[in-house]
Amino acid sequence: MIEKEKIEEIKRQTDIVGLVSQYIQLKKVGKNYRALCPFHLEKTPSFYVNSEKGIFYCFGCKKGGNAINFLMEYEKMDFPTAVKLLAKNLGIEIETTKGLKYKEIYEANEIACQFYALCLSKNIGKRGRNYLAKRNIDIEKLQDFQLGYAPLSGGLVTYARQNGVSKQALFTAGLISQSTSSRSLEAFRDRLIFPILNLSGRIIGFGGRSIDDQNRPKYLNSPETPIFKKGDILYGLYQAKKAIRTKNEAILVEGYFDLLSLFQQGIDNLCAPLGTSLTEKQAMLISRFAKKVNILFDGDLSGMKAALRAIGLLINVQVDVFVTSLPEDTDPDRFINESGADVLKEAIKSATDFFHFYKKMSKPETVEQEVVLIKDLIQIIGNIHDPIRFDRYLKYASHVFDIPVETIKKAMRRTDVTDKPVARAKTTAEEWLIAMILNLREHFAQIKSILVPEDFSEPGVRRLYKQLLMGEDIDIDDALASADQNLRQKVYSIIMRGESVSKEALLESIKRHKSSIEETRIRTKISEARTKGDDAALTKYQKEHKALKQKMLHIKKDSVALDREL
Ligand code: CTP
Ligand code: MN
Repeated sequence: MIEKEKIEEIKRQTDIVGLVSQYIQLKKVGKNYRALCPFHLEKTPSFYVNSEKGIFYCFGCKKGGNAINFLMEYEKMDFPTAVKLLAKNLGIEIETTKGLKYKEIYEANEIACQFYALCLSKNIGKRGRNYLAKRNIDIEKLQDFQLGYAPLSGGLVTYARQNGVSKQALFTAGLISQSTSSRSLEAFRDRLIFPILNLSGRIIGFGGRSIDDQNRPKYLNSPETPIFKKGDILYGLYQAKKAIRTKNEAILVEGYFDLLSLFQQGIDNLCAPLGTSLTEKQAMLISRFAKKVNILFDGDLSGMKAALRAIGLLINVQVDVFVTSLPEDTDPDRFINESGADVLKEAIKSATDFFHFYKKMSKPETVEQEVVLIKDLIQIIGNIHDPIRFDRYLKYASHVFDIPVETIKKAMRRTDVTDKPVARAKTTAEEWLIAMILNLREHFAQIKSILVPEDFSEPGVRRLYKQLLMGEDIDIDDALASADQNLRQKVYSIIMRGESVSKEALLESIKRHKSSIEETRIRTKISEARTKGDDAALTKYQKEHKALKQKMLHIKKDSVALDREL
C-alpha cells in the first residue's frame, strides 16, 4: 500500500498535460487540451485534458480521471504501478508494502518462465532443443524472447513451491488446472514455450507449441487472466518496439515462428497478433509506434482474407498500409528458410500499397462484384485523415475505376461513418450543483456552512456530498472514485466543459436550491395537514411557506439557471 499523502503529493505535482502528451498529440483549445481519444476510435476529437484540475475526459467514450487513471488505462497498469511510475518521473521516493492486485500472477508467470527456460537448457529439454534446431531457430540470437520448454513430466508446481509461488497463484495465472487437488494438471506439457510480454516487459501469458503433432491443439495459449487479454496485445512488440519506432514501420506477421525466424535474421521491426484476426485495440497499439505498417501474412487464402480485414482497421488508425504478398503455399517462416533473408527483404521492400493489394485480391467477375469492391475501397479511403494522401487515393480510385471524383465523394458522404453524436445526458440541478462545488473547491468552507446533505434529494449526490464533508480537502477524483458511474461521468463532463460560475453565482444557486427543497418539504406538510384536517398545523405551514416565498424573492434572479441540458 502506498501512503495516501504520497499519492496526493504525486497527483498534485504531476503535470497531466505533459504526461498525456508523451502518448498523444494534444492541441490547446481554450482552457483545455484536446485530441483524438486514445481509448476509442473516432474521427473528431472528443478527448479533453484540463491541466488546472489534473483530469482528462472523453465525451465520446466517457472515460475520465486523473493522471493515474490515464496511465492505468493507457499502459494497462495496475494502480500501484501507475503511481510508482509517476513518482519516478517526479523523483519522489515511495515505499510499498503489499497489496498489488496482479502481483501474484506476474510472479507466477515469472517463475514459470524461469522454469521453462531452465528446462530448455537442461537434459530434460532435449526434445525442445531438437525441435528448434529442426525449425532453424537459434536461441542464442533470440535471448530477448526467453523461449522455454515445458516437459511432458511437468515439474512446474514443485519448482514454483521451492521459489515461494503457491499453487493458487499458478492456478490464477492459468498454468495449472486446479489449485487444490494434489493432482493438478499443468497446462503446458511437451510444448515449446513462448512467453508473452506486455509493453513494460513483464510476462503476462504464454503460448505453447506442441512438439508431437499428435498432441492437439498445435498452439495453446494462456487463458484470459486479469492481466492477459489476447486481443489487447501483440506478440514481440516489447522486443521490437525500439526498432519499430526507429524505422517508423512495423511488419505484421501471423505466427510465433514467422516472427522469430525473421527476427534472428535481422528483420527486427515485427509484431504478431496472437492467433486472432487483428483487433481494433491491436491496430491502435501499432499506430502508437509506427506511421507505416507492412502486412506480411501467410500466402494462403486465410492469410489473404486476414490481410484484407486488417487493412480497414489500420487505415482507421491513420497508418499507411502496405501488403507484402507471398506465394500461396508458404508463410514468412517457411519462405525465409527456403528462399533466404535477402529475397524476403526484397519482397518486403516492394510491398504494394493497400489499394493495389485490395484490387488485385478481389478479382471481380461480375459488375455487381466490382461495385462491391469499389464501395469497400471507397469506404477505406474515406477514412484517411491525411488530406494529401486522401486526395491521391481519391484521384487514383477515380482513374482506376473510371468514376468521376465527385461521384466518389458523393458515395463517401453516404457511407461516411461519422462519429455517433455524443449522447447528451440530461443533467439534473443537483448534479450540476455538486459539479460546481467540486469545481470551486476553494470556497468549500463557506458552502459547507450553508448546505447540509439533506439539501440533496438524489441519493447518489447526497452520498457524494456527505463524503466531501468528511474530508479536509476536496480531491475531485477521490470524491468521485466511489460515486456511481453515471454521476461520475456527468460531473467530469460538466467540469471539463469549463462552465465556470463565480462564487457569488454559485452561492445564490445553492440558496435557491435549498429554498426549493425547503418549499417541497413545506408543501408536503401542508397537504398532510389538509388531509388530516389539522387546521393549526395548516396555518403554521402556510405561514412558513409565505415567509419562505418572501425570502426567495431576495435571491437574485440572475443566479445560474439550474435546469440545463448539457
Ligand atoms: N495460433 C493459435 N492457436 C492455434 C493456431 C494458431 O494461437 N490453434 C496462432 C499462433 O500464434 C500461430 C499463428 O496463430 O503462430 C499462426 O497460425 P498457423 O499459421 O497455423 O501456425 P504457424 O505459425 O505457421 O505454425 P507452425 O509453423 O508452427 O506450424
Ligand atoms: Mn503459418
